[in-house]
Amino acid sequence: MSTRPDGFYDLADFTRDEVRDLLALAQRLQDHPEPRALTGRILGLLFMNPSLRTLASFQAGMARLGGSSFVITPGQGTWQFETRMGAVMNGSAAEHVREGIPVLASYCDALAIRAFADGKDLASDLAETNFNGMAALSPKPVINLESAANHPCQALADWKTLDDQAIPATGKFVLSWVNHPRALPLAVPAATVHMAALRGMEVVVLRPEGYALPSAIMDKARAAASASGGSVTETDDADAALTGAHVVYAKEWGCTSHYGDAAADLALRSELSHWQVREATFGKARTDARFMHCLPVRRNVAVADEVLDGPRSLVLAEAHNRMVVQMAVLHRLLAGRQA
Ligand code: CP
Repeated sequence: MSTRPDGFYDLADFTRDEVRDLLALAQRLQDHPEPRALTGRILGLLFMNPSLRTLASFQAGMARLGGSSFVITPGQGTWQFETRMGAVMNGSAAEHVREGIPVLASYCDALAIRAFADGKDLASDLAETNFNGMAALSPKPVINLESAANHPCQALADWKTLDDQAIPATGKFVLSWVNHPRALPLAVPAATVHMAALRGMEVVVLRPEGYALPSAIMDKARAAASASGGSVTETDDADAALTGAHVVYAKEWGCTSHYGDAAADLALRSELSHWQVREATFGKARTDARFMHCLPVRRNVAVADEVLDGPRSLVLAEAHNRMVVQMAVLHRLLAGRQA
């Protein structure tokens, strides 16, 4: 179990059995709703970046447990936040997180934060410098709504979706890079590869040259795999990766060979438009192979309509499970806690 402060930061803070316990609580709350479990509890939601699922599913989940929530999106009806320590605040940001976060935390019982990668310095993003700096300012439990290199709520929902579909714990899970008009963060691929490895799956990361996942992400996933009896490999050979796959999980991410260099990334990905999931992608996979993506997704860029609208797609189930598993996280953090 984690030695971190109270909160929900990273699925890696849990053993496989602890994740299973959390998913059992999610199932219990789904089967036997507890509409008064969090009466009087308040969740603060701080979004430094946009969202649809994370925002709506946390508010809905909190309400279904009898609690309430408030949402802050700095610069949209509230002061813009400065996050840099030591900044001379003579620009557009009127509020520093050093005051803003403790103030918000003083109004609620847990503070959930979304703060994406800066996308400039890989080492700093992998170290979660920005998110950890903000989380450390909260005296209340913190929930990670997606940081530079992690999205634990998405990973937990995806694990439940795999279980719901009875996809074997030892099944073959292919995380495939897909194209996108610009570089996206490493948070979802990092969380996904770790989740599938911790579940005990045969994980293959399929990606073109230039998009290898950083060794810190692969090493963490391999450590989880070795604890759970799974494996993690990486290749650019689509046929080898997809043969016998139970699941193809598509995700877009930025090039890691020129991290933070938008022009170099664009030049690389301009040759990669064929990295799109289509029905033909599943030719060597199992006939009952399923398709996953965390959403939002660019139709007919990353994934063809025929897949998203076809029987393989689990994308809506994944999105729904966000609310279900987050209710378990909130219940675990806040039920029984003194208001
Ligand atoms: N998957 C996910 O986190 O969706 P949002 O960015 O819409 O919250």
